[in-house]
Amino acid sequence: MVDNTVPPLPHIAIQVFTETQPVAMMVEESRLDRRMARTHMKVQTGGIAAALGAYRDAPTPNVVVIETVSDSTTLLTALDELAGYCDEGTRVVVIGHVNDVPLYRELMRRGVSEYLVAPIGPLDFIEALAGIFRDPEAKPVGRAIAVIGAKGGIGASTIAHNLAYSIAGDMEIDTCIVDLDMAFGTAGLNFNIDPPQGILDAVIDPSRVDTIMIERLFSKVTPHLSLMAAPSTVERTYDFNEANFEPVMDALRASIPAIIYDVPHQWTNWTRTLLTRADEVVVVASPDLANLRNAKNLIDNLAAARPNDPKPRLVLSMVGMPKRPELAIDGFTKTLECPALASIPFDAAIFGAAANNGQMLADMQGAAKLQDIFREIAFALMGRQNARPTKKSLFDTLRERLNSLPGGKSRAA
Ligand SMILES: Nc1ncnc2c1ncn2[C@@H]1O[C@H](COP(=O)(O)OP(=O)(O)OP(=O)(O)O)[C@@H](O)[C@H]1O
Ligand SMILES: [Mg+2]
Repeated sequence: MVDNTVPPLPHIAIQVFTETQPVAMMVEESRLDRRMARTHMKVQTGGIAAALGAYRDAPTPNVVVIETVSDSTTLLTALDELAGYCDEGTRVVVIGHVNDVPLYRELMRRGVSEYLVAPIGPLDFIEALAGIFRDPEAKPVGRAIAVIGAKGGIGASTIAHNLAYSIAGDMEIDTCIVDLDMAFGTAGLNFNIDPPQGILDAVIDPSRVDTIMIERLFSKVTPHLSLMAAPSTVERTYDFNEANFEPVMDALRASIPAIIYDVPHQWTNWTRTLLTRADEVVVVASPDLANLRNAKNLIDNLAAARPNDPKPRLVLSMVGMPKRPELAIDGFTKTLECPALASIPFDAAIFGAAANNGQMLADMQGAAKLQDIFREIAFALMGRQNARPTKKSLFDTLRERLNSLPGGKSRAA
């Protein structure tokens, strides 16, 4: 039975590999449904063989849907290979043509999210996809990355905006940049748009916030990038209770695969809470003494507050400013006990032109090296290495658990 309360799907990327014409048509029909409007869906033929070919050298989307007409042994062997290519968080849905309970069990044991038996209608398909993300035990869709400067004015926002642009542009992942510098935020200027305020409405009245409401607070920048803009006025003050940010953080993580928080250089209850709750924290620092002290305090404090999360990452900014005496980078990172994820050189001409034109570095001539640096930061923070997926996934973890069971591997293979 199709549930009419099926919610719209989040901003996810879905790739479907079909083997038969009726399933391909059903998937195409589902694409037109309003609940799928936020998703990016690619459909191709070739079933699991085509999926293996596609992901051997490329990252996997949020959901991979595979139609199969093969026997179960062939399917399971191919799925085991596919598991090795799946990024963390990728869900796999299988559409088969036989109602085979032992196969269903084997698929669930391997971490496959759904096994659907064709023929199915577009709404059954959409409901199954929605169910994966509605499950209260499901991992949230989004990865939240908070960027803060160790000092004011050292390029933290510039890095946050270019990072978001790279995740959206180079990785084609739906991304939202949230400008938390309520009074002075520059995201609108840097993307050359004049957005209505977004984030303030969400934190002023958190009781109204849900995944539908936050969509209205987005301003579209590019097909994969949205901005939740700051008011950027000083008509009021912005001393919020930290609890006001929780609904919007939760709604964003349920809805958008990549969330970049541009955190102002402030230490308040709400900035600290937000930094503590993000999936990744980036501390931006320039190599001088005040930056060193502040970065050390931030990294040590946040690492202690997030004992089960990755340590804050360090990005060096404005390195090599002419005539400025700088601390040696080696000593700087050693004192911080934190290697630098990247080092952004000082370049007044290119950064100045980008800021004045409202352009991202990816769209500027003569910025190829900087573009490569941002691409690397983007891949690292999204849990992928050099455009290659990391091999560890939920799928893998389940497989390892299965293999460690007595007779696990042989029974499953
Ligand atoms: N690597 C760089 N080389 C030269 N100029 C830079 C560099 N990075 C940023 N800038 C310039 O420095 C200025 C401040 O940058 P930005 O607003 O990103 O800093 P911030 O750390 O976010 O500041 P705030 O404390 O106001 O939030 C901008 O004009 C920007 O164009
Ligand atoms: Mg800033």
